[in-house]
Amino acid sequence: MTFSPHHLREQFPILQTQVYGKPLVYLDNAATSQKPRCVLSAMNTFYENQNANVHRGVHWLSQVASEAYESTRAQVAKYLGTPKTQEVIFTRGTTDAINLVASSWGLANLTQGDTVAVTRMDHHSNFVPWQQLCAKTGATFRIIELNEDFQLDEASLEAALALRPKLLALPWASNTLGTINPVLAIAKRAKAQGAFVLVDAAQALPHLFEAKDLLDTIDFLAFSSHKLFGPTGLGVLWGREALLNRMPPIQFGGDMVLRVEDHHTQWNELPWKFEAGTPAIAEVIGLGAALKFLESLDAHRIREYEENLTQRILQRFLQEPGVQLIGPGKHSVQGAARLGVFSFLVDGVHTHDISQFLDQQGIAVRAGHHCTQPLMSKLGIAGTTRASFAFYNTFEEAEVLFQSIQAARRYFQ
Ligand SMILES: Cc1ncc(COP(=O)(O)O)c(C=O)c1O
Repeated sequence: MTFSPHHLREQFPILQTQVYGKPLVYLDNAATSQKPRCVLSAMNTFYENQNANVHRGVHWLSQVASEAYESTRAQVAKYLGTPKTQEVIFTRGTTDAINLVASSWGLANLTQGDTVAVTRMDHHSNFVPWQQLCAKTGATFRIIELNEDFQLDEASLEAALALRPKLLALPWASNTLGTINPVLAIAKRAKAQGAFVLVDAAQALPHLFEAKDLLDTIDFLAFSSHKLFGPTGLGVLWGREALLNRMPPIQFGGDMVLRVEDHHTQWNELPWKFEAGTPAIAEVIGLGAALKFLESLDAHRIREYEENLTQRILQRFLQEPGVQLIGPGKHSVQGAARLGVFSFLVDGVHTHDISQFLDQQGIAVRAGHHCTQPLMSKLGIAGTTRASFAFYNTFEEAEVLFQSIQAARRYFQ
């Protein structure tokens, strides 16, 4: 039986919203996804019945809260496919997770003569921390370029790997182009050159990609809860235990210490060494509910549904008059490895005007550089309009989008 999102949509209250008297068509999932009712109620239940600080009290409530918090960590570990809960560190998001690695591992390990390789399609949060770290340490900052179909260019990748970089940081999938990178194959090649590998999984996990095999190869993986149908203000850094053990903490305070003396402090064990202060307890519990929700779905059928939806929308984009797609698909005969993330330009109409026009039709899309300015500069454009789909979106919604794009073209011409 093929998957139908209609039943699933009922579990996302916000999807019933009317905007300017029209049904909301939410196509800004790459920015943040919507939350199922179970996530909202898990957070509510926490505040109504379990609210206490974690790891700090012997009282009953604190134990309940600590148990809920730590059991979510175990859930995340299981979701990622590792038995090691100590390798799962809660952060404020993907950005925070990558900055943690840059500030801790990066400062301790990089020096002049080393190379850090990133890609042209990286989000600023997997670009700027490495750029800045290189500026600080004197290491070389190398950008792997894209080919004409917006995939990583093989020659550029090969040349970067030949430099034997200390670190390769790359996105599993691009938030601007929708490109899906063959991260496992690339990571294996990078490891063979002695590189450490960090994968930004912020855009991949919401499409139910499985990380288990990747974790056997790479060193760090980062994602955000809010893109994975969970609450904002929370993310995860997964890191290889041996590396995390050697990395110094970068934030100091409560919870991350075992013993503090006047002039010396002993760090706590993993993962708490990297979780200074009161964490986002309710959000962690909300993420736990999101993962439980995702695990209740048939991932195989959903991926199939999304792939089908993506290829149908891609064909529409390629045929749409006056619309230029900025992303893989145009040149790939076999059908591109891509997400339902579609960046586009409309002839003669500014990206912000398009987005505003679409907004008037109840369609939520995003306009701008999508935190990938080095990519925009290379393409010689200021920005794009981006429609990004999740598994609760339908082809009917895509049709509303295309009709509205054509209406916008008529209006602005
Ligand atoms: C690929 C990618 N990496 C990193 C981020 C940053 O995530 P956050 O803002 O949740 O830290 C985003 C957010 O759009 C993203 O799309």
